[in-house]
Amino acid sequence: MKISGCSLLVLLGLGGAGAAFGQDSGANKANGAVSYFRDIRPIIQRQCQGCHQPAVKQGGLDLTRYEGFKAGGNGGSAFEPGAPEKSLVLSYIKGERTPRMPFGLPPLAPEQIDLFSRWISADGSDDTPAEARETVATDKPPVYHLPPVRGPANWSAR
Ligand code: HEC
Repeated sequence: MKISGCSLLVLLGLGGAGAAFGQDSGANKANGAVSYFRDIRPIIQRQCQGCHQPAVKQGGLDLTRYEGFKAGGNGGSAFEPGAPEKSLVLSYIKGERTPRMPFGLPPLAPEQIDLFSRWISADGSDDTPAEARETVATDKPPVYHLPPVRGPANWSAR
């Protein structure tokens, strides 16, 4: 089959629309609500936590938990629920304030910035499930439930 330039353009156009509406982030579910735990936290873990954690805390900001995010850093609260225009974190990820975040890395994708914006506009609430609170804490030493693996049981009985 020969694809003409014109139908190729149509195909590309449809592909783009599919990508825009077909995101599987969960944020596009019927109610359109953005979840901190499901949508925001994974972005922070991948693109922010390296510099905003208890041991590094750039700008005085610890983003490993909701509480630290809410408390903010040297510049005060990082976001104001219901008031995106007053939310520091948005102006930093949009590049309205410099240095743009994530510092020294490519900017967040527009859809990611949109998730932060919609979450803050709604109410910026924490929906972290209780059972996940323990495991997301990066400042706790790991607990081992099994002893370390040694040699075979008859190791010393040679
Ligand atoms: C490579 C390190 C690095 C990464 C990654 C990074 N930041 Fe930062 N961040 C900094 C530094 C350094 C500052 C302090 C900037 C200054 O005040 O000059 C800062 C400051 C901030 C501030 C202002 C804190 C305050 O109260 O003054 C916010 C908000 C912020 N970062 C959010 C983020 C977000 C959200 C991400 C992820 C999308 C991110 N940062 C990723 C290094 C980083």
